Amino acid sequence: MDRTAQLTSPALARGIAYDPPPLSPTGPGSLHVRAARVLDGNWTGGSTVPSRNLYPHQWSWDSAFIAIGLRHLSPLRAQTELETLLAAQWADGRIPHIVFNPSVPLDAYFPSPDFWRSSTAGRAAGAPRTVQTSGIVQPPVHALAAWLVHLADPGLSRARGFLAGVYPRLAAWHRYLLHRRDLGGGGLASVVHPWEQGMDNSPCWDAPLARVAPAPARSFRRADLEHGAAEDRPTDLDYGRYVRLAADYRDAEYADRKREFAVEDPAFNALLIASEHALARIARELGATGTARHARAQRLTAALVDRLWDPEREIFLCRDLRAGADGADGTGGTGGADGGLIPERGVSGLVPLLLPELPREIAAALVRTLSGPHFGTGTLLVPSYDLLGEAFDPHRYWRGPAWFNTGWLLERGLREHGERERADALAEAVLRTADASGFAEYVDPYTGEACGATGFSWTAALALDLHHRQRAPHDERQNLDKS
Ligand code: SER
Repeated sequence: MDRTAQLTSPALARGIAYDPPPLSPTGPGSLHVRAARVLDGNWTGGSTVPSRNLYPHQWSWDSAFIAIGLRHLSPLRAQTELETLLAAQWADGRIPHIVFNPSVPLDAYFPSPDFWRSSTAGRAAGAPRTVQTSGIVQPPVHALAAWLVHLADPGLSRARGFLAGVYPRLAAWHRYLLHRRDLGGGGLASVVHPWEQGMDNSPCWDAPLARVAPAPARSFRRADLEHGAAEDRPTDLDYGRYVRLAADYRDAEYADRKREFAVEDPAFNALLIASEHALARIARELGATGTARHARAQRLTAALVDRLWDPEREIFLCRDLRAGADGADGTGGTGGADGGLIPERGVSGLVPLLLPELPREIAAALVRTLSGPHFGTGTLLVPSYDLLGEAFDPHRYWRGPAWFNTGWLLERGLREHGERERADALAEAVLRTADASGFAEYVDPYTGEACGATGFSWTAALALDLHHRQRAPHDERQNLDKS
């Protein structure tokens, strides 16, 4: 990396050093160049917006995925992306799902800072005073991202004290999830809003959301429909429920207890475990043993299998901690801490394939499910929801379309478990579809037709990451991100 470029780049205008992408190895007009153009266009000086129009602030798990791709363009920008997000961490350890850019007009995105009121409603939970944020969280991909960013340029990382700076914040983040969010008492972290899990309108949430009285439509104004087709986005009824849950959490000053919506999700917890493994590596790099973290990751993997694995469906399911709490869902349950499993197959239930210590027979079963009729038959890419499910819709947000972050995670999972050919085929499909769709937010899983926003940052970033890994010799691909 030529660091002198940082000193001369015109992109220093915003005060953040920026080293321009190296010339593409495959010439101008390559995927590398096109993806870099998206990421450059969405860079705001300290972080990257997911999409200029639809999501004009900084999003938590987006930034983690974005940093994983940015490391190939500018390790410094990738480090900065994560540092900017972590600077908005709350004193209780939570990393907010949105960090608001004060120069963006309030009506550009809903719910805006005046809805969340982080600096007042979040005071007891330790929200920062100098920056406005939301009060909910998103999946913990950050330690994994920090480790991968470090590996891209260990010299720069050490010189800047990057890992030493982020480690205490990442450790506090995991502590928050493992202690304040273990609402089921079984060792896993729970989400209290579908936006926290990140797959907002997945049919997996239909049953728990049905118990939530929606906020009246006249009490809020959606901004997303000005930038995205209504048939690609969640319905008004779903939005009313999202608003109700968020407002209730805010009005309780973001205190954590088993709320109206409380779910243990397989992808959220798998990402926490993958990030615990990454934190163990970071601890070792900083001179500690990392043994306790590794042991915790193993315990969490066992809890994930114990609480969420469905051996008959051969997929992990979500656990609704409120199922049966009031008898309203017809289960006749008593409302014990364990709730009940939600019998819906979502892509979230495949994501644990990422975990290195998953029992072999479970990994093999997940590979069967991934390539079978519920997720694999006739598709270009892995859908977000069961192809045979009643609620399947190939265009509507998380109710069927294929997303690129889950494609990236499953490619890693396949490679982790020795499924080299399937991993190569998935990587190829992700790259081709990402590029052909203009780096769409999500696509029809059968046709690859673009849905939602185009020029979407994590699509560009993760395509860039796969593009770089594909250029490595086969036997190195698996170990590229390990040491
Ligand atoms: N994904 C949500 C949205 O559509 C919130 O993070 O705005």
